[in-house]
Amino acid sequence: MEATYKGYIRAIHGHIIEAFFPENIPPIRSILFHKNEKTEHLFEVETHLDHQRVLALSLGHTEGLKRGLPLYTYNNPLLFPVGESLLGRVLNFKGDPLDGKAPLKEVSYISIYKPQQDYFESIAIKGIMEIGIKIIDLLSPFPQGGKVGLFGGAGVGKTVLLMEFIYKIARYYQGVSVFCGVGERMREGHELIVEMDNLGVLDKSVIILGQMQEAPGIRFRTPLSAITVAEYFRDSGRDVLFIVDNIYRFVQAGCEVSMLLGRFPSRVGYQPTLALEMAEIQDRLISTEKGNITSVQAIYVPADDITDPGCASVFPYLDTVVMLSRSMASQGLYPAVDPLGSSSKLLNPEIIGERHYQIALEVREHFARYRELKDIIALMGIEELSHQDRLIVKRARRLERFLTQPFFTMEEFTGRSGVHVPLEETLKGCEIILSGKMDKFPEEAFYMRGGIEEIL
Ligand SMILES: Nc1ncnc2c1ncn2[C@@H]1O[C@H](COP(=O)(O)OP(=O)(O)O)[C@@H](O)[C@H]1O
Ligand SMILES: [Mg+2]
Repeated sequence: MEATYKGYIRAIHGHIIEAFFPENIPPIRSILFHKNEKTEHLFEVETHLDHQRVLALSLGHTEGLKRGLPLYTYNNPLLFPVGESLLGRVLNFKGDPLDGKAPLKEVSYISIYKPQQDYFESIAIKGIMEIGIKIIDLLSPFPQGGKVGLFGGAGVGKTVLLMEFIYKIARYYQGVSVFCGVGERMREGHELIVEMDNLGVLDKSVIILGQMQEAPGIRFRTPLSAITVAEYFRDSGRDVLFIVDNIYRFVQAGCEVSMLLGRFPSRVGYQPTLALEMAEIQDRLISTEKGNITSVQAIYVPADDITDPGCASVFPYLDTVVMLSRSMASQGLYPAVDPLGSSSKLLNPEIIGERHYQIALEVREHFARYRELKDIIALMGIEELSHQDRLIVKRARRLERFLTQPFFTMEEFTGRSGVHVPLEETLKGCEIILSGKMDKFPEEAFYMRGGIEEIL
């Protein structure tokens, strides 16, 4: 198909251009481009100002642009390559390799947008997926084919946990991972590739990056490109783990784009289209008869304020919430999962069974009471507590340590070998600690270990 000369740039406002089309104005979301020997500039049509003028979002840098430059279009939206050969590759938002390896082969190009998803295609989650991480399996189990939100401020261990998930899925589930990096530091993207290669999981993964240094338009569209890949593998019958680090950066990019387009902000400065943009992402991350997409979405919590509308926009879609705690991270209690802030729709006796449910409940009760008592202990000392409360504190502190564990992906840094603990062992361990049989063991004995046998 030939792209023909269609229009030209009339004005440039940062990352937004105004383009003029004497006839046949291109549809919303079609891609406009300008190419010369050295560079290519891409734009996506966002607004029709009148029957000849559009506002378009730059998908890239804006150096060298000037008024009067001719624009071409195929009247297509952004297309992304899909195919088996994507496995093991690192790509940008339009499918260009970032790994310096050979160009992609045997791929077909499809739109990153999808017409309204057929609601009835979506199937319910198929139960829980054991991940082998004690505190997660116990208190915020993974929904097979559902959505997990991983909330946390900067530096509390979101990325480390995501890496461990990728490793587990590759090793224990033979699934495919699609990792989408949005708006985080470029170095993290690089580290990720090296690490995945070392762990031997790169050939079961596709990495799509639109990091911090990229234009807002790119950060805004990268998740849709990555979702297109996840859908492709799902529709070819695979179990897909879709990981995004970090969906909050997508919200931020949308906010930047909205401001550039001159839209009035709504709640606390966020874009008026926030809910719509989030829905467009979430409604595609679904499981169907053909295959599953289990997604884990890291969500940066600005100023550790979970009520921030950017964070809140993700909440309604989640089956499981994993909340990371700064205070636990600072005590070295990794993974720093807050047992009281985390929750899951799956924590229901009909799904996880009566035994698991009761143990989870009792563990949470111990942590809740321990938290209440912390102030009293700080003021008056543990001796002032009732015998019953002292036992609760004792067991809560042992549980807190028992629920830490060394990660495979951190072996190099911690010097401890990673462990995979089946749910059954986690349950057994908690039961024994709750029963008081381990009250005599020193607290350190429980720290960074595997199952309870190892401690006994
Ligand atoms: N499970 C863990 N085991 C050991 N150290 C960890 C663990 N999780 C996080 N850390 C430490 O915390 C640092 C920050 O973690 P990171 O995942 O990069 O945070 P975030 O992505 O939330 O900003 C890591 O570099 C590491 O030193
Ligand atoms: Mg991170």
